[in-house]
Amino acid sequence: MSAPIDLRLLPATAAVSSDGRLSIGGCDLGELAARFGTPLFVYDETHLRARCKEYVAAFGTDSVAYAGKAFLCRAMVRLVAEEGLHLDVATGGELHVALAAGFPPARIVFHGNNKSDEELSTALAAGVGRIVADSFAELDRLEALVKTGQPIPRVMLRVTPGVEAHTHEYIETGTEDSKFGFPVRPGDAVEAARRVAASPHLELAGLHCHIGSQIHVLQSYAAATAIVVGLAAQIEEAAGPGAVKELNLGGGLGIAYHDGDEPPTVAEYATVLRRALDEALADAGLAHRPALLVEPGRSIAATAGVTLYRVGTIKEIAGVRTYVAVDGGMSDNARPATYGARYEAFLPERATAERPLIATVAGKHCEQGDLLVRNATLPADVAVGDLLCTPATGAYGYAMASNYNKVPRPAVVFVGGGMARPVVRRETFDDLLRLEEE
Ligand code: LLP
Repeated sequence: MSAPIDLRLLPATAAVSSDGRLSIGGCDLGELAARFGTPLFVYDETHLRARCKEYVAAFGTDSVAYAGKAFLCRAMVRLVAEEGLHLDVATGGELHVALAAGFPPARIVFHGNNKSDEELSTALAAGVGRIVADSFAELDRLEALVKTGQPIPRVMLRVTPGVEAHTHEYIETGTEDSKFGFPVRPGDAVEAARRVAASPHLELAGLHCHIGSQIHVLQSYAAATAIVVGLAAQIEEAAGPGAVKELNLGGGLGIAYHDGDEPPTVAEYATVLRRALDEALADAGLAHRPALLVEPGRSIAATAGVTLYRVGTIKEIAGVRTYVAVDGGMSDNARPATYGARYEAFLPERATAERPLIATVAGKHCEQGDLLVRNATLPADVAVGDLLCTPATGAYGYAMASNYNKVPRPAVVFVGGGMARPVVRRETFDDLLRLEEE
């Protein structure tokens, strides 16, 4: 494909000037790179807020938790709080960031398949609103903590319905063979619910199910909903009507990573989930309607963010391939190497240029697999010193960043209204030594 970049892959406020320069939030990307250096994560604050609002409009207030694993820092936590969402955290570290930013604990949902006593104790003491319990061992831990005087937690039980999500196997979590949750079919889920309902130390809030991530086939959600509602009916036979107050169907809505991707909209996603819930409730004969909750991560943060890199080396191997090497790589975007994820690349200072050259964008790490974009389409005159941008890196980009090869992690800026606000500073070489004892 040799067309200029598809603006649908870019944040909402992306605009191209008459001389072909791309801006986001009213900030010229070339100027941002000059001011903050590269690699640089640039987030469109308007886009982030618009996606939060779209979710609240589609699902209702108090029905949406942002999944912080996609991208979390205090600025993001505050934005999520301002937009009225709840927040899903998956570890003590994510919980710490949320609490440090002043997020209301009652609106925090705490996940994790192996939460420690310490993590659970911190969560209970802070007054975290929902604990998503993942195993019998965790129920033991929670009960033991309450016996020592901690407050009684509201428990959601994470269950695995045994459905395929039609996504990459590393990010598929709803099948029975999963490290997460209580399997439905062998009866573990019902047993766990009976135990929580009967325990004076635990309060049953409802059921949770997350079948996977980057999902484009909405039918997978309908299948999971039917199974989870059937389970709720079974639980209520034992624990009494109304015992399952909430159904949290997780996150997972897919986004567009490259030209031609057409993910479902948030509104379509909400319609499918609601219809599936209605049908399943009727089939299962559940008299009441549990509240429906979702916890999107990627579909809020991914398209809001882009990464800017500087081209440092171009290697043309006659008859084989052209490598365009940039100043970041698998340490700021692990997704291509981990999942074979495909991205687009373009030059934001020549955004309207045709892109006839097929080249592979490589990172700077000591690994042949450190390739950010295989077979990217770029302008034919791409040159050393050019600024290169990969769209849709706002989710699971910075969040999965590492210091591999002792490469410092990039800076993160939020842009909007012509202003850029640094929210995470670039790591320095000295930061690389900060944990060493001598
Ligand atoms: N809820 C739970 C319990 C989850 O485990 C996840 C993601 C989400 C919500 C949010 O899912 P999302 O809406 O972002 O798809 N690193 C992988 C994705 C891992 C997803 C982990 N769980 C990637 O880069 O594709």
